Amino acid sequence: MYRKVDEHIIERLEAIVTSKGVIRDAEKLIDYAGDEFPDPSIRRPPEVVVKPRTSAQVSEILKLASQERIPVTPRGAGTGLCGGCVPLYGGIVLSLEEMNQILEIDGQNMITVAEAGVTLGNLQEAAAEAGLFFPPHPGDESAQLGGLVNTNASGARAVKYGGVRNYVKGLEVVLPTGEIITLGGKHLKDSTGYSLLNLLIGSEGTLGVVTKVVLSLLPKPQAVYTLVVPYESLDSAIKAVPEIRNKALPMAIEFIEHEVIPPAEELLGKRWPCRAKAYLMIMVDGTSDAEVLRILESIGDICLRHGAAIQDVGELCIADTPRKQEDILDIRSSLYLALRKNMIEVLDIVVPPARIAEYVAEVHRISERYDLWLPNYGHTADGNVHTHLMKVKPSEGKPSQEIPGWGEKYPLVRKELHQKAKELGGMVSGEHGIGLVKKEYLPLFIHPTQIKLMREIKKLFDPKNILNPGKIF
Ligand code: LAC
Ligand code: ZN
Repeated sequence: MYRKVDEHIIERLEAIVTSKGVIRDAEKLIDYAGDEFPDPSIRRPPEVVVKPRTSAQVSEILKLASQERIPVTPRGAGTGLCGGCVPLYGGIVLSLEEMNQILEIDGQNMITVAEAGVTLGNLQEAAAEAGLFFPPHPGDESAQLGGLVNTNASGARAVKYGGVRNYVKGLEVVLPTGEIITLGGKHLKDSTGYSLLNLLIGSEGTLGVVTKVVLSLLPKPQAVYTLVVPYESLDSAIKAVPEIRNKALPMAIEFIEHEVIPPAEELLGKRWPCRAKAYLMIMVDGTSDAEVLRILESIGDICLRHGAAIQDVGELCIADTPRKQEDILDIRSSLYLALRKNMIEVLDIVVPPARIAEYVAEVHRISERYDLWLPNYGHTADGNVHTHLMKVKPSEGKPSQEIPGWGEKYPLVRKELHQKAKELGGMVSGEHGIGLVKKEYLPLFIHPTQIKLMREIKKLFDPKNILNPGKIF
């Protein structure tokens, strides 16, 4: 059993971070009860929130928690989607929000060193000012670097540039004992024994608290264009993707079913540039406008050959100004938010890219069989599909209608979808992580020996099980 946070513990925490760094007010604690997962029933308020400003303070907090056996849940901006930062057993939420300094943009080495609480938006801005670029873009720019590392986030641009793991070169980590260790550094290559650095990436705050990150950057692309290709069938849209990826390597190839667009348009007061049943949203970057336009034309040809709902490449909707691109990207990034209030969960299944059409066809079959609404969009070229389990269904001319019996249907539907993913050689999570809500599917995808090894590793790092307990397995 864990020790409760009493007055004595509060005093000791205040001695570490001052009273300003300690939150106990019940109304404020609610804000730290969970993440963006749509079902509020998984939320749990912590007993206290602590906001350290230095790694040394994080170390003192963990020493105290370890001595007294108090659970500690590290937390970034709470933009996660599977309950990874829910303080399941109460205790301390360790919010990294005050550790928000970019310490270095090292142009010579093309590296940034930053504290874990820096937001993705701030990093992007600082990199751009230096003519550099941090490619991973998981929709919400308020996400913090520590969280991005802990979920191995990725987002749309992973087609060409890969996810966060590809950019993490070093980490400062505070272990549950309070020891501070440095993994990796500014060097770009490393064959020095087991990679604890890679073990920490995607560990969802269960092994150590990431306090600093060393990330590699790339030169800023000189030209970026976004293309929206309309299709009358999602299947033909998806089938065009392998050829587009293999011949043109765009930075993003997203598929979107039309039915998810109107809620986002309404939310933002913006309009998607064309109308069809489904779309591919393709982002291409390059060293000049001429180069990118040439690539777009070749993509247009491929799309035409694969049944795009246009007669001629000239009809393609190309967003060539930053403003037009921003509107398209905003709508794309807000799809989840716009559906969220009527949703029970967003899935994050990933299958081999060439099998994505089979997976989506199965989603459609299941939604018909159970009479549900399961809208999809996703990172097509990565094989990563976000299927939304909705409580409502849009119906002609009427506002969304609640689906009768959704509560009984969804456990069966989730099972069938995950089983299909397994059959196709896929995984339960491409980019959101396991957290709390995807735990039950881990044994379907991962061999018991592998889960046993993970448990042993957890014990080695955190023998008292104080760090984000109850997550992953
Ligand atoms: C997205 C989130 C849900 O792709 O991962 O919008
Ligand atoms: Zn996504």
